[in-house]
Amino acid sequence: MSRFLVEGGCRLSGEVAVQGAKNSVLPILAATVLTRSECVLLGCPHLRDVEASIRILRRLGCCAQWEGDALTVDSAGLYRADISDLLMREMRSSAVFLGALLARCGRAEIAYPGGCELGPRPIDLHLSGLRALGAEIREEDGGTLHCTAAGLRGCEVVLGIPSVGATENLMLAACGASGTTTIVNAAREPEIADLQDFLRSCGASVGGAGSSAVTVEGGHPLCGCTYSIMPDRIVAATYLCAAAAAGGDVRLLRAEERHLSTLTAVLREAGCRIDADGASLRLRRSGRLRAVHPVRTAPYPGFPTDAQAVLMAAMLKSEGATVFEENVFENRYRHVDEMTRMGAEVRVSGRVAVVTGVERLHGARVRAADLRGGAALTLAALAAEGRSEIAGLAHIDRGYEDLGRDLRALGAQVVRTEEPEP
Ligand code: UD1
Repeated sequence: MSRFLVEGGCRLSGEVAVQGAKNSVLPILAATVLTRSECVLLGCPHLRDVEASIRILRRLGCCAQWEGDALTVDSAGLYRADISDLLMREMRSSAVFLGALLARCGRAEIAYPGGCELGPRPIDLHLSGLRALGAEIREEDGGTLHCTAAGLRGCEVVLGIPSVGATENLMLAACGASGTTTIVNAAREPEIADLQDFLRSCGASVGGAGSSAVTVEGGHPLCGCTYSIMPDRIVAATYLCAAAAAGGDVRLLRAEERHLSTLTAVLREAGCRIDADGASLRLRRSGRLRAVHPVRTAPYPGFPTDAQAVLMAAMLKSEGATVFEENVFENRYRHVDEMTRMGAEVRVSGRVAVVTGVERLHGARVRAADLRGGAALTLAALAAEGRSEIAGLAHIDRGYEDLGRDLRALGAQVVRTEEPEP
């Protein structure tokens, strides 16, 4: 059982570099399967979810090797197209291997990803899009999906929701389809553009990422490449919110404001001073934050659902009341009960949470129930007086290389302890 011990009440100062983006590297790792050769991913973050993807790649017959933060994947030896239930369960977003395997092998067999800690996480849009491209998909009672495609054919696929995972899955499948595929109502997240750039570096013909229509001219053989993973905008959001929660003066290197503009607008409204200088962002906060206009999560370019919890942590000691509305996932307030153990005043009703700022938070023993909620509890502990213990760090390790190390670099008092399971 691992825990953070946090001594709250210290202002943050210093600088830290932002790791490569989890949500970018995961689909890119699946995309390496399309190249039948060697790809070198630079700035690849060391994360539990990346390790889970590597286990999948190795099981499929690919080689993967780390050298510092460069990960080399050679998919020449891929010889199977099935992913076991155990490997699928380790990481819900492994569904993106479906499109890649169909494009490369014409078949795939994966366990159904099922629900996750954020509520049910269906993949119906992934499946209907793949069917439109010509895949036959059969669901077995045990939860296994058998997919075959004698030959994928490009077509127009309209997504009912701009799903990030479905857009990525279809982009990968479309690389192996004949003709043109257009994904209409595609997700516009920066990570989709990063996947597009990776695929182009491998020789694919992909356009439109960042807009609502992504077009892929399929059937080009892809080759390996060397590619730098974009910085993680949610990790950057976390460290900005850490400084907003604890107060201080921090600089983030490899943080791009254009990917964070909805968050920086809210933090400025709350009273933080934020200056962008090339690829670095500086946040200064002194005095109490002010409540802000309602924060409504939405697909990009709206306010990111992944930054909802960490912003809430920053607002717990603000002056006044702030309304949060979570519109992307059903079950994304699991951090709230734990925050109330620290003295926070947050009322949840359905998709709405109202944070009434308090003057003081106190340390408490809390448990992370999901990745961003866990990071948010750590930030709340920085703003609290006294000592907190945060358990459930396995969730946090899915998306942060070393949250404790980075917060210590900013002057926070955070120690990680590992105790054997009772
Ligand atoms: C990705 C991100 C996650 C982020 C989310 C929303 C990765 C690895 N994860 O997750 O960090 O929080 O985008 O920005 O990139 N939906 C359906 N049917 C589908 C697919 C999705 O109903 O077939 C629903 C989901 O239940 C959810 C919403 O659409 O309510 C958005 O999901 P989606 O954009 O697909 O998120 P993920 O790709 O799972």
